[in-house]
Amino acid sequence: MQGTWATSAGLDLHLELSGTRPRAALESALREAVRSGRLAAGTALPSSRALAADLGLARNTVADAYGQLVAEGWLAARHGSGTWVAEQTVPVPAAGRPQAGVASARAWYDLRPGFPDLSAFPRAAWMAAARRGLAAAPARSLLGYSDVQGLPVLRTALAEYLARARGVSVVPERIVVCAGFSQGLELLCDLLRTKGERTLAIEAYGHPGHRQIAMSAGMRLVPVPVDDRGAMAGGVPPDGAGAMLLTPAHQYPLGVALAPQRRRLAVDWAAAGNGLIIEDDYDGEFRYDRQAVGALQSLAPDHVVYAGTASKSLVPGLRLGWLAVPDRLARDITEIKRATGRVSSSFDQLTLAEFINSGGYDRQVRRARLAYRTRRDWLVSELRRQVPGVSVAGIAAGLHVIVRLPAEVAEEDVIARAAGRGLALEGLASCRAGEAGGVGGPGLGPALVVGYATPPGHAFSTAVARLCAALRDALG
Ligand SMILES: Cc1ncc(COP(=O)(O)O)c(C=O)c1O
Repeated sequence: MQGTWATSAGLDLHLELSGTRPRAALESALREAVRSGRLAAGTALPSSRALAADLGLARNTVADAYGQLVAEGWLAARHGSGTWVAEQTVPVPAAGRPQAGVASARAWYDLRPGFPDLSAFPRAAWMAAARRGLAAAPARSLLGYSDVQGLPVLRTALAEYLARARGVSVVPERIVVCAGFSQGLELLCDLLRTKGERTLAIEAYGHPGHRQIAMSAGMRLVPVPVDDRGAMAGGVPPDGAGAMLLTPAHQYPLGVALAPQRRRLAVDWAAAGNGLIIEDDYDGEFRYDRQAVGALQSLAPDHVVYAGTASKSLVPGLRLGWLAVPDRLARDITEIKRATGRVSSSFDQLTLAEFINSGGYDRQVRRARLAYRTRRDWLVSELRRQVPGVSVAGIAAGLHVIVRLPAEVAEEDVIARAAGRGLALEGLASCRAGEAGGVGGPGLGPALVVGYATPPGHAFSTAVARLCAALRDALG
């Protein structure tokens, strides 16, 4: 194939199609045109029929290429309005503003944590599950005001899945469906406040957004130190804490599992009547090297709320999560949900139930686990080969690793150098509990939290190459 002009719909489009696979050639030509800025955000593309005619390709080839690029975020489409170039800018984090002497650039590549590979969402299988779920559902449960606690069919599917895959001790009556972990945490903070609890112990390094949610819900935060054996380095949480938020299977962001003695200590603290543990199992499905770490909840189901989410196993856009709560709390949480109108869409719940029951969820998790493991292996081996001055930790599970920098290298410097290469990165310091939450122990940096699931497949190796280059620059 040669360089080709397409002139559909009055739009001159120069596309360099090379290679023998027309769809791949068209995808990469369009990506390159967007990446280089030749096709600006908002530019309308020819219809697939018109472009196919111009290029001498089958219409399906063009439609499939458009579909893939929409999935990857390069293009956007709406039924009836055609296809256009999407807003591409990945916002560069404030800390990553390029310094003097480092070229400013848009961040086309992203290795920040928090996302699965969005382009790998199983759209066809999800749509098929939606069709089956909708066809079979009685009008009342589908179209009326649905069960506030969550559709029984989904709670049943989740109870079976969580017991089987994560070792959670639960029955459908103790599951509460929510809009991701974020809403689950918000509901639990509201619940704690109705019970007179005002203080939540949190890991001294954790998700900044979750600290924000808990504080907005009126909780005072006290940090518990974290080290390479997980949270609570010194023992149980500080006096006065009525609840403790933990990431036992894969500490966020350090990536370590909570040591067995500490798991015991934590549940003993809760069972002695001191409080409630909130177990955030955000990426519990993704463990690569060792036996899966089962849920802490199974050690004390009456004192631990297990929280799971579809945000990593599927995509955050679904806004679906679930809590497995102690018996005595199920009704209270449901009442808070009802009183505050926080009810999830029955359409999405039906689809997820059907997706789980038909085996689609397990298949997607297995597929994603394989793909992420391959990415992790590549990332770790490239870092070891190209940048021996850094060390990589927290690699056994999850969708991110910690890249430890030499003490004299500043996180901001690496982030700025990467931004200059069009790559967005995040530093460990952004996860540290700040003024409002207090700070537990000395800082653990400098380090980067590298999310290797974030880029779509075609962009991954370039993103890693840019990371290595930025690190080599910063380390001199
Ligand atoms: C530590 C942690 N917990 C939970 C979640 C999921 O939150 P949600 O279910 O609200 O999307 C994330 C997402 O990035 C996370 O990093």
